[in-house]
Amino acid sequence: MSSDPNDSAANAGDADGIVARFEADALGIADLDALEELRASYLGRKRGAVTALFQALRELDGDAKRAAGAAANRARQQIGARLEQIETELRSAATASREQAELVDVTLPAIPDNLGGLHPITQTLQEIQNVFVSMGYGVVDGPEVETDWYNFGALNFPEEHPARDEQDTMRLAGDLLLRTHTSPVQIRYMEQHQPPLAIIVPGRVYRRDTPDATHNPMFVQCEGLLVDTDITLADLKGTLDHFAKALFGPGTKTRFRPGYFPFTEPSAEVDATCPACHGDGCRVCKGSGWVELLGCGMVHPALFENVGYDPTKVQGFAFGMGVDRIAAVRYGLRDIRAYYDNDLRFLRQFTS
Ligand code: DAH
Repeated sequence: MSSDPNDSAANAGDADGIVARFEADALGIADLDALEELRASYLGRKRGAVTALFQALRELDGDAKRAAGAAANRARQQIGARLEQIETELRSAATASREQAELVDVTLPAIPDNLGGLHPITQTLQEIQNVFVSMGYGVVDGPEVETDWYNFGALNFPEEHPARDEQDTMRLAGDLLLRTHTSPVQIRYMEQHQPPLAIIVPGRVYRRDTPDATHNPMFVQCEGLLVDTDITLADLKGTLDHFAKALFGPGTKTRFRPGYFPFTEPSAEVDATCPACHGDGCRVCKGSGWVELLGCGMVHPALFENVGYDPTKVQGFAFGMGVDRIAAVRYGLRDIRAYYDNDLRFLRQFTS
């Protein structure tokens, strides 16, 4: 082995040259993959330039070997330290850019355009409910799939009543049907509870109607039922007059016209003065000054018998209204089908 000092100088020179080349290469490193590639080409076991320096030591002896070894160690140490530093920088830059990308400015205002609102029928229904809840009524639910008995029989509909006709009722398998009104919940509730009771029953109902401006095969009703002792028609009139004033304004008047429902006797149809023109006559009330509000009456004794109450001891009144039509009057809407079209341009008019 040669101990020529020139050899060791050459070796130290190699080491400095490798470090200088490394520094130049390191400037172009932009990601961790490139960094690993760089590390392999200088410190890698197989092809590392610094590794080659150490291998070349085998050819040297004495001072030359020591000098070259020291130079190789220095190169390895410098390159290793710089690699560390670059890795740290790359990692924190990656974290910073990910954080920047994920940044959410919590102080930005919400986008109001994306806010939903309550459907106009829901808003009207809530107002109706509020009036009755403030008078002490409870809110009760019932099934939309009913039996013939609850929808008709228990409500005193005679066998040949036209409402039972296939044309009006959506029949399901066997004895089942989609309820045509919310009145069956009167029966279900009385079966489960004893008087005194006062409930309202909001819900969807179904009829085989062809959709037009005032009909839809599915619509929303709100039923009312009060049963106690000493209940008279005067209680019914006072309650519904209060309801009309609460809903349409204190100047509202009501009128009771004789009507017919199998489940009430006597029965009445109630009109209220038009909330749009206050009775003068306008487009909403078709010039009459009155709008139809609901149907009502004193509970027929046959219903009490059907649920096991003694009709000589208790009396009650009931009423039922179409929420779609009341909402249409309230908003001056010409065509109730718009409620179910889900056209945002229509629905947005009712968001507050
Ligand atoms: N069920 C009736 C209908 O669908 C509405 C109704 C009228 C309900 C009078 C009642 C009532 O409870 O007493 O047309």
